[in-house]
Amino acid sequence: MNQNLYTAPALTDLSAPDSGKNALQQFAEDVISGLSQYPKTLSSKYFYDGKGSRLFQQIMAVPEYYLTQSEFDVFETHKQAIAQHIAGSEPFTLVDLGAGDATKTKVILKELLQQDARFEYVPVDISGDAMQELNRNLQKELPALQTHAVVGTYFDALPWINAHKPGPKVLLFLGSNIGNFLPEYRSYFIKEVRKHMQPGDKLLVGMDLRKDPETILKAYNDASGVTAAFNLNLLDRINSELGGNFIVDQFMHYPLYNPQEGVMKSYLVSKKAQEVTIKATGKSFKFEAWEAIHTESSYKFTLQQAETLGQEAGLKTAQVFQDEKAYFADLLYIAT
Ligand code: AVI
Repeated sequence: MNQNLYTAPALTDLSAPDSGKNALQQFAEDVISGLSQYPKTLSSKYFYDGKGSRLFQQIMAVPEYYLTQSEFDVFETHKQAIAQHIAGSEPFTLVDLGAGDATKTKVILKELLQQDARFEYVPVDISGDAMQELNRNLQKELPALQTHAVVGTYFDALPWINAHKPGPKVLLFLGSNIGNFLPEYRSYFIKEVRKHMQPGDKLLVGMDLRKDPETILKAYNDASGVTAAFNLNLLDRINSELGGNFIVDQFMHYPLYNPQEGVMKSYLVSKKAQEVTIKATGKSFKFEAWEAIHTESSYKFTLQQAETLGQEAGLKTAQVFQDEKAYFADLLYIAT
């Protein structure tokens, strides 16, 4: 390991000082527009309050949620090749978009250190707490790693990183987070990311692949009920942050997989006719018996789709890394 790389971990917070207030206003506006529509919808981006993030950590450990283990398997199997492909001859910046606790990224980080690659690790996350925790954790676990965590949205962080960290970049977008974007936003997102890359820069994207529909359905309907609690927590969050009076027991988690479109859709279904008032919105919303709120889409990909997604954004597929079962793929794109 190259001990010379060590510098004290740094953290840059790009979030606006009043973002707490704006974020709450935005949440209220999104809830009004989502619950006023027919069919009703709420955005999955609101799953991740403190409790939701903890529940998501638990989902990643349930046996049915194969995605996490599959991407781990991809990394464990191909870590040498991945590290060789992403590390060029020059020092580079490794940007981890939506790093969270970076559990899976650590497999690659350890391998890069092992190979004496010269790089700085820049995890990016909207959660300041998560980035502080990760900084502490990396300092202990990988003291030779040079780290600079950034708190902010992806599109605030990328220009900042380009301005402050010159030279080649390797971007990571792991965990099939791309699967939670609707198709139009997915291509927009990749094109926007590409705008912040120079020719030769690389992007590694984790994608859940199409497979036996039963396997997919079970992953979003685990027997221990953690995914149900994760979905229902959205109503608890509306109650606590926006003064809602949802009776959570009167809703049920309902996941449904469409194998033609390759999309897992999750719903919250009202078990009876009812009316809910949300103080911060100044509004009440009526639910018919068995009316559903769409809360999340998790897209599953074919390798052809994954390649086309890159191509349309000016990214060439350099390598496809897969686990033995071909459940999951990490595609390495290069900006052309
Ligand atoms: C974060 N994202 C990739 C997860 C997924 O599989 O769509 C979120 C999740 N929802 C239910 N279980 C996990």
